[in-house]
Amino acid sequence: MNNKTLITILIVVAVGIVGFIAYQTFSNDKARTESSEGKNIVATVYKSPTCGCCGVYASYIKKEGYDVDTKNIRDMSSIKQEFGVPYELGSCHTLEIGGYVVEGHIPELAIQKLLAEKPDIKGISMPGMPFGSPGMPGPKDGDFVIYEITHEGAKGDVFMTI
Ligand code: CU
Ligand code: CU
Repeated sequence: MNNKTLITILIVVAVGIVGFIAYQTFSNDKARTESSEGKNIVATVYKSPTCGCCGVYASYIKKEGYDVDTKNIRDMSSIKQEFGVPYELGSCHTLEIGGYVVEGHIPELAIQKLLAEKPDIKGISMPGMPFGSPGMPGPKDGDFVIYEITHEGAKGDVFMTI
């Protein structure tokens, strides 16, 4: 083996090592960005274009890792009707997540429970706009009571109290 052959072999080995390290780094980076992309669950937010607290709530849901798709709707009552949200359970905005209707300033904890347990209901609602709930100002001044919305578009049992 002469020096030229030895140098050629060393170069081939060196290129191989560099290539291997580069590949490892790249695939690690890829895995990292994939895991930090969030939940890979789309949350469609229906809200009036002028609603401030709805926008804050949409940002909150995005920060919780959902892919938020905001739809500005002038006539929100038509959305409530379409999704079967009864009047007594109405709030400002309406979300569609994983085939469920999520009405109002509901803490993400309840959405997690909904998506994990997959109950046979239309969705959940926290009627009104309670102080201290996500997207709403002020201190929390009582329990957040979240109700089920039945498939018939009626008020169901208490789904969760936070
Ligand atoms: Cu609101
Ligand atoms: Cu709202």
